[in-house]
Amino acid sequence: MADFAAKLSLTLQQMYNRVAGCEAGLLSPVAIERGLDLLKKLGYPTPLLNRLPTESFDRTFPLANPLTRITELAPKTIFDLGCGTALDALFCAQILPECELIVGVDSSSGLLNEGRKRLNNFPLHAAKTTLIEADLNQLNRDLRQLGSWNRPNSFDLILMNGSFNLVYDKMNFFHTLTELLSCDGTILIYDFLLIEPLPPGFSDEIDNWLWNVGGALHEDELSRIIRGMDLDLVSVKELEIINPVARCEIIIEKS
Ligand SMILES: C[S@@+](CC[C@H](N)C(=O)[O-])C[C@H]1O[C@@H](n2cnc3c(N)ncnc32)[C@H](O)[C@@H]1O
Repeated sequence: MADFAAKLSLTLQQMYNRVAGCEAGLLSPVAIERGLDLLKKLGYPTPLLNRLPTESFDRTFPLANPLTRITELAPKTIFDLGCGTALDALFCAQILPECELIVGVDSSSGLLNEGRKRLNNFPLHAAKTTLIEADLNQLNRDLRQLGSWNRPNSFDLILMNGSFNLVYDKMNFFHTLTELLSCDGTILIYDFLLIEPLPPGFSDEIDNWLWNVGGALHEDELSRIIRGMDLDLVSVKELEIINPVARCEIIIEKS
């Protein structure tokens, strides 16, 4: 199964790099909302959106607006895994004056470069934001290999806005997250949970993982995975039902 994870990572990296490298046309046959319309529908605050040129939203793919929840949590350090063009990272830097460090991780160098270009227009916020290329399917190994990177021992908030279901081995992944999360920290996930079983064999196809459904878990499965891992599933909030999944906000904390 290591082969499946490696192939999944490579396929997603190639797909998102293609998204980053071409005009909006690449995804036009895919029936998903995107760009400014998507961000408005998800409830991102208009004053924040108005600070950026409209075209800068073309390559953002959030599953929800996390900013209200993050403001309540008031983290000093944020690890945004699967950050894409780092829109959430930039907004967090702008709305959380107490936040000291935001680290975004993504496997698409193309999306990260778009994010770096945008951050360059906001030097004050860029100063507390670091974007690094790494593979979530081997996060532990990749972070160890980034020897020169001066990372804190732990983070107050680990955010995954649309990237959790793209991780293959979720149990192994949570072991890594547990090590990265501070004692009173929060893992905040926006992704789909299954509300009906997937057809047999559906998740064996890489293509079915690319839009976050093939790797979706049922809530009970998620609970089972984190049980005994020093983590508590604090809440699951359904934001929208799109059978066979529900778009959800998932909050996990250390026990
Ligand atoms: C649905 S998009 C969400 C992007 C971002 N959070 C946003 O709100 O725009 C999923 C992101 O996960 C990244 N991704 C997918 N698989 C990954 C992996 N194995 N390692 C790191 N990043 C990955 C993609 O490159 C993409 O940026």
